[in-house]
Amino acid sequence: MATFENKAAWITAAQATPLEVGPGPTPNPSEDEVVIKVAYSAVNPVDWKLQDYSAPHLKYPYIFGTDVAGNVVAVGSGLASRFTVGQRVIGHCDGLLSGKPTNNGFQLYSTCKEILVSPIPHSLPLANAAVLPLSISTAASALFLELQAPLPSLNPKPTGKRILIWGGSSSVGSSAIQLAVAAGLEVVATARSVNHSFVRSLGASHVLDYEDSDVLDKTAGLLKPGDLVVDAISSQDTQAKCAQILAGLGGGKLPLMMPPEVTMPDNVNAVFVNSLSPGLTAVDIGDAVWRKYIPEALAAGKYQAKPDPFVITGGLEKVQDGIDLLRKGVSAKKIVIELSGEQ
Ligand SMILES: NC(=O)c1ccc[n+]([C@@H]2O[C@H](COP(=O)([O-])OP(=O)(O)OC[C@H]3O[C@@H](n4cnc5c(N)ncnc54)[C@H](OP(=O)(O)O)[C@@H]3O)[C@@H](O)[C@H]2O)c1
Repeated sequence: MATFENKAAWITAAQATPLEVGPGPTPNPSEDEVVIKVAYSAVNPVDWKLQDYSAPHLKYPYIFGTDVAGNVVAVGSGLASRFTVGQRVIGHCDGLLSGKPTNNGFQLYSTCKEILVSPIPHSLPLANAAVLPLSISTAASALFLELQAPLPSLNPKPTGKRILIWGGSSSVGSSAIQLAVAAGLEVVATARSVNHSFVRSLGASHVLDYEDSDVLDKTAGLLKPGDLVVDAISSQDTQAKCAQILAGLGGGKLPLMMPPEVTMPDNVNAVFVNSLSPGLTAVDIGDAVWRKYIPEALAAGKYQAKPDPFVITGGLEKVQDGIDLLRKGVSAKKIVIELSGEQ
């Protein structure tokens, strides 16, 4: 295999700042992994949360980052039929759970499990594509693992059910809306009014302003017992609101992006979504989403790489700037760091 001169943005100790750029781990893919020369890597809330609060299992120095877009430079021995060197791809890195430093995003060469990698069409710029991986996996876990929605298809059969996606303009919400539509669900979403046309463009049929004082009544009025609810934001406030709406519909499972922080009604079963499930434990979902639906839907122009990237140039040295910017919050945007900048 070719040798790679890798560099990474490291956090040297718990809560250390800024990240330090230095030599990166040498890629050594196992038979089911792909090495990607990273053109763009997106920043996610988990990056600033881990920098600010750490996590008991993290071993320092550590590399953050979960979302990469770039070109395949090496393919595990078992994957010759699925990927070729030079192919343009996106990948969701599993380093947060696997503990492998090679399998994180803020480095020049990043290794991903094949089941969390998708080819992308030439019409999709790598900077845009980088916004997708974590949001796809997270939304897929919420919809297809936790809520058992029908697996996505280019020609979905209507289920007759609606789903409320609270936070439709977020990254997770953008994928959740698109995957829910591909599952045959009719989407009711919330967002600030400035983002309503964006959320509709993703496929939501009804959009409500979460700042309206009567948003709970209006939302509940659009739903019936048996409909589904996903909290794509999962602050204390949104958890409480989504739980109240679901309880009023007779209850059910409520996928949350963060651990439950409020007391749930008796008929609401709040579950914390693990974005890596499709790559590790729910491989039937990884297969249906990452190996089949996403490549087909991207190629057919039926899946949009949204929200749009806000690109920061300047390479690994700028990852800390991206994390600091995201910590302040974004609206219908995803911060993306240009690494090699290849298209
Ligand atoms: N469990 C997991 O595996 C997993 C994976 C990914 C993310 N997450 C977590 O999921 C959450 C969302 O992540 P993300 O990357 O999707 O976030 P993001 O895109 O950075 O979130 C920004 C968006 O949130 C919306 N928003 C903020 N407050 C809202 C509220 N009260 N109601 C509705 N929308 C609201 C904003 O909408 P407007 O601009 O329209 O106001 C904005 O567009 C974060 O807490 C993240 O840590 C968890």
